[in-house]
Amino acid sequence: MRTSVTSAGDIARDIPRAPPPMAMLAELTHRCPLACPYCSNPIELTRANEELSTEEWIGVFRQAADLGVLHLHLSGGEPASRRDLVELTRAAVSLGLYTNLITSGVGLTGARIGSLADAGLDHLQLSLQGVSPESADRIGGYQGGYERKMAVAAWVAGAGIPLTLNAVCHRENMGEIDAMIELAIRLKARRVEIATVQFHGWAERNKAALMPTREQVERATRTVAEAREKYQGVLVIDYVPADYHSRYPKACMGGWGRVGLNVTPSGRVLPCHAAETIPSLSFENVRETSLAAIWYDSDAFNAYRGEDWMPELCRSCERKKVDFGGCRCQAMALAGDASATDPVCIRSPLRERLTREADALSTTQSAGLIYRGR
Ligand code: SF4
Ligand code: FES
Repeated sequence: MRTSVTSAGDIARDIPRAPPPMAMLAELTHRCPLACPYCSNPIELTRANEELSTEEWIGVFRQAADLGVLHLHLSGGEPASRRDLVELTRAAVSLGLYTNLITSGVGLTGARIGSLADAGLDHLQLSLQGVSPESADRIGGYQGGYERKMAVAAWVAGAGIPLTLNAVCHRENMGEIDAMIELAIRLKARRVEIATVQFHGWAERNKAALMPTREQVERATRTVAEAREKYQGVLVIDYVPADYHSRYPKACMGGWGRVGLNVTPSGRVLPCHAAETIPSLSFENVRETSLAAIWYDSDAFNAYRGEDWMPELCRSCERKKVDFGGCRCQAMALAGDASATDPVCIRSPLRERLTREADALSTTQSAGLIYRGR
């Protein structure tokens, strides 16, 4: 089914009817004890007194399940900062949602992990800032964080909850990738996700300090390929390569408004976590509008669905069904136009400039990390 949509001053666009979303990321809170310099949360954080209440979140989970969502990612900030985390998890499980907790581990105890397991938590993703107390605590800006993560991993294994380690890589820790993979094995993780830093939100301020060099990126790609072979059948290794050093953009969010949605701590519903950086869009709130109406009918979700919005370069390109034109927020940040071809694409007229910038940034002497302010 297709709908024709016009907004003021626009010509009618043919927008394909979206299938129901598969995944929802619930940003339960922006509160977080860590201060990572690559934090992708917005510069303006939601205050605790603006957060959805326990009942409101459970109502959102119910709407999500009714809408067809299968996977619920409980995230933040640090979701363990919410006192009702176990209650929220239990409610989501009872609605038939697959629950995945994305956490730094700080704020979790053995007892709380036992309660989460009893509530039916399906999976836990633990962030990793480095492979030693020195590097992890320095990058995360939190003393004692590494020790707590190691304890959390052991409690999670003891409780029988499947574990994934999430490591964000950048210039300061890119040489630790093989050690991160070894650590994942030692901690009995089933999966490790090695994602190169993305420069959204606060991370933008640390571009010069965090941009990896071309050599680091090439070495990281080789390390991952070798480790995948070595640990086949033992550990799944997901790898998100560096955007600025890739030939093509990734299919950000699996395509805008195609697979998933994000709900902010105060209930705004976004097609991706950085969507609010696109000034032409406004976002509706589950406190006022149903999740289904927002998913199917809101201007923000329909803005980049289908192909009619694409520039000719993407519309006539065979990869448009692979990457859906790339990342809209990156196009906004780098081209100043959210409907431009993602400048990471080798076919974009901006690509050459981007490569020069990335090379220059990656060889800039770091002025030190600017930690996430709270
Ligand atoms: Fe993707 Fe557009 Fe580049 Fe083609 S031109 S590879 S669709 S970003
Ligand atoms: Fe928003 Fe990629 S981060 S579309």
